[in-house]
Amino acid sequence: MILGFVSITKAVTVAPKPLRVGSTVVALCSIERHDTARNVFSPNHKPQIRRECLQPPNFAIVRIVRLNPQQYHLLARTALWLLAVIVVSGASVRLTGSGLGCSDWPNCEPGHLIPEADFHAWVEFGNRIVTGLVSIAVVLAVLGSMLRRPLVTKLTKWSWGLVAGVAIQIALGAITVITHLSPPIVMGHFLLSMVLIWNATVLEHMARPNNTCGTSVVKSLRLHICLVAVMTAIVVVTGTMVTGSGPHGGDENVERLALPFSEIARSHGGIVVVLLLATVILRLRVQNLRTGSVKHRVNVVLFVMILQAAIGYTQYFTELPVLLVGFHVAGATVLWISAVRLVLATVTSPLEVA
Ligand code: HEM
Repeated sequence: MILGFVSITKAVTVAPKPLRVGSTVVALCSIERHDTARNVFSPNHKPQIRRECLQPPNFAIVRIVRLNPQQYHLLARTALWLLAVIVVSGASVRLTGSGLGCSDWPNCEPGHLIPEADFHAWVEFGNRIVTGLVSIAVVLAVLGSMLRRPLVTKLTKWSWGLVAGVAIQIALGAITVITHLSPPIVMGHFLLSMVLIWNATVLEHMARPNNTCGTSVVKSLRLHICLVAVMTAIVVVTGTMVTGSGPHGGDENVERLALPFSEIARSHGGIVVVLLLATVILRLRVQNLRTGSVKHRVNVVLFVMILQAAIGYTQYFTELPVLLVGFHVAGATVLWISAVRLVLATVTSPLEVA
């Protein structure tokens, strides 16, 4: 008997039932020189493909999964919120000094995947879990965009951005640990997260099943909305500078940014006051808009901004308690998502369907 590979698809012509299109299975089958009349092996007998190899095999059908727009949107939304969670879980590792909570990788301790009842180890381990979930989510976002029907090539491009960003973040995270949380690296790590959040927010917006064009608004109003988003970005950047020159900027002994903490914190707070004014004026301007989405999103931005400013001032006057700083990081992330969504509400170009 000679063992050989026989492509099942070649057997279609003689198989009793046609195979499904999309079956790519190649089966290991036997080709034999077998005299069936005498039931003995015969080297002179004409080689035959065994009869069972010509049957459609049960395992041969590989179903290609397809996602509908709702299912893909759920994937994109999950990736966005996991990226938001990792900003806070990463910050909590720094704020609680849990960077070396686990001494081994991928196990937390040698021989133990899960930490013992140690607070720092659990904080570090929790961040590792979120990192794993984020990595899976962004890879699924790419794969899902290819399996989505109808296919939208823009979704694949934007989801590749997430994979690239997360890969860079993993490398930057390692550099952050090696440099004992050097403030410029911590700042870069945080700001790149905000770029990733922007990417994920755009992806989630484009993936909405009922994605229709945004509201068309007059040019000056659109500029006003963009100004609020740009100012929010500036506030986030200055916030990381405040952190980089303060007590939570890195390891105890690592050199801080050469900036006077109180002054840079006051400048950060001062820009926020201007931003708040600009947003209140924006709220008055959208009061009479006929469609609700822009007005609703301005309301969300204003609400989160007021809360965030209140947390900012409270933490400044209470010597930066770790818990409040953690809320401040979460607030900055949510505010950034809301500001990007506000801009997207006025984008009027539709999705390209490939
Ligand atoms: C729109 C509102 C605000 C946003 C988006 C914002 C954003 C940020 C961000 C992103 C950070 C860096 C967090 C980190 O790297 O861990 C930060 C830090 C900080 N912010 Fe704000 N902030 C806002 C309002 C305020 C206000 C009104 C104050 C009051 C002075 C303030 C005081 C601070 C202080 C003191 C820090 C340093 C905290 C630390 O030690 O880590 N923030 N902010």
